[in-house]
Amino acid sequence: MIRLEVFSGPFDAAHAGAELIVTTVLKAIRDRGTAFVALSGGRTPWPMFQELAKRELPWEKIIFFQVDERDCASGDDQRNLTHLLAALPSRARIEPMPVEAGMVGASIYAARLAELLGQPPVLDLVHLGLGKDGHTASLVPGDPLLDEYYHDVAWSSDAYQGHRRMTLTYPLLNRARLIFWLVTGADKRPAVEGLLAGDATLPAARLNAKQCILLADNKAVGTG
Ligand code: 6PG
Repeated sequence: MIRLEVFSGPFDAAHAGAELIVTTVLKAIRDRGTAFVALSGGRTPWPMFQELAKRELPWEKIIFFQVDERDCASGDDQRNLTHLLAALPSRARIEPMPVEAGMVGASIYAARLAELLGQPPVLDLVHLGLGKDGHTASLVPGDPLLDEYYHDVAWSSDAYQGHRRMTLTYPLLNRARLIFWLVTGADKRPAVEGLLAGDATLPAARLNAKQCILLADNKAVGTG
């Protein structure tokens, strides 16, 4: 079941996303001493990251992971890490996906997650975006990765929008305590409708985490 929250515009939705991250990490720190959060790429979350960076947080008690990363050079504008580093404060502890390590990089990242979170790794919060084709993370329609239910981190089978991607997979995402999508814009409306309808042809709709929230602006749900 996905809880839907609709906002009047993209910045209100982004602010709500930042607030959800703040409240979730503070509770995780109270309960377990450290908060483990995975953040997606794409452009939609940039205002959310900027809002989050303004908040007074115990940054040293939060570890940020990447949900996915494109296979391109360090510092490239196409790298999701480039935008995370630009938006979050320098005190933020970010565990970058080691795309430079090639295929073995996925195993390296899975081992790092297990080292920091224990086995099996359980993230406190996962932020996801939604593509127009219903992809989420870098789980894209038609990729055999959609049937990966053993490894927590893997490489996409082919290039997608110009790059191969390393991505968290359903086993790890489904174990998260809370997943939220931040989706804005009229172009995402069909994917949002399919996600809410549970259309399993959409990779996003195949997620089965305990608690899922969709933060959307009115254009993405067709009321704006
Ligand atoms: C990526 C993302 C991807 C993204 C969606 C939405 O690396 O591309 O993780 O899953 O969240 O494609 O992207 P936009 O927010 O740019 O529309």
